[in-house]
Amino acid sequence: MSYELKSARFLARDVLMQALKPGDAVIDATMGNGHDTQFLCETVGPAGRVYAFDVQEQAVASTEALLRREGFTDRASLFCCGHQCMDQFVHESVRAVVFNLGWLPGGDHSVTTRWETTREAVTKALDLLLPGGVLVLCAYPGHTEGDRERNELVPFLSSLSNKTFNVLRQSFLNAGPGAPECFVVQKMG
Ligand SMILES: C[S@@+](CC[C@H](N)C(=O)[O-])C[C@H]1O[C@@H](n2cnc3c(N)ncnc32)[C@H](O)[C@@H]1O
Repeated sequence: MSYELKSARFLARDVLMQALKPGDAVIDATMGNGHDTQFLCETVGPAGRVYAFDVQEQAVASTEALLRREGFTDRASLFCCGHQCMDQFVHESVRAVVFNLGWLPGGDHSVTTRWETTREAVTKALDLLLPGGVLVLCAYPGHTEGDRERNELVPFLSSLSNKTFNVLRQSFLNAGPGAPECFVVQKMG
């Protein structure tokens, strides 16, 4: 695909493609239909490991089916569990953690990420990052919980020590209210 600056997820993947290498361990904090999990499996290769989390059985089932079709099941561990519990299941440092906030596309809109658990998960994810590793998060304002998450994320990430983290916020300035935003946090090496 030619370079096209078109979405927060595109920006997120661009960062991940720069940051990741074969053999890396990574976390998909919001599995959904498994598209990011699949992308991470491809990017880290057969020697890599992808830990993926979602609270919905339906998300885990569609991700499992997708990974099976693509031949990636051996490099992924899928957990039907909130990302705020990631530290109970991931016992190694990781090169990247990916959050794609909101609800399952085509699913129940009432099952959405929420600031309290997102904050807990982001805090744990930052602890799990290797030096040089990145946390990449797409936020979707434009609905009540999405607005709250974005509005709380900005001061939360702004307060991280600049001795330990570089924090970037990317937004589409002419896309109107509710446009997705991409946040990138890199732990310093
Ligand atoms: C926008 S979707 C993710 C899309 C996914 N990355 C993809 O590529 O298809 C957000 C997902 O977050 C999940 N979710 C909500 N709360 C969660 C939590 N506490 N922990 C993990 N996942 C959660 C939802 O069930 C939903 O499937």
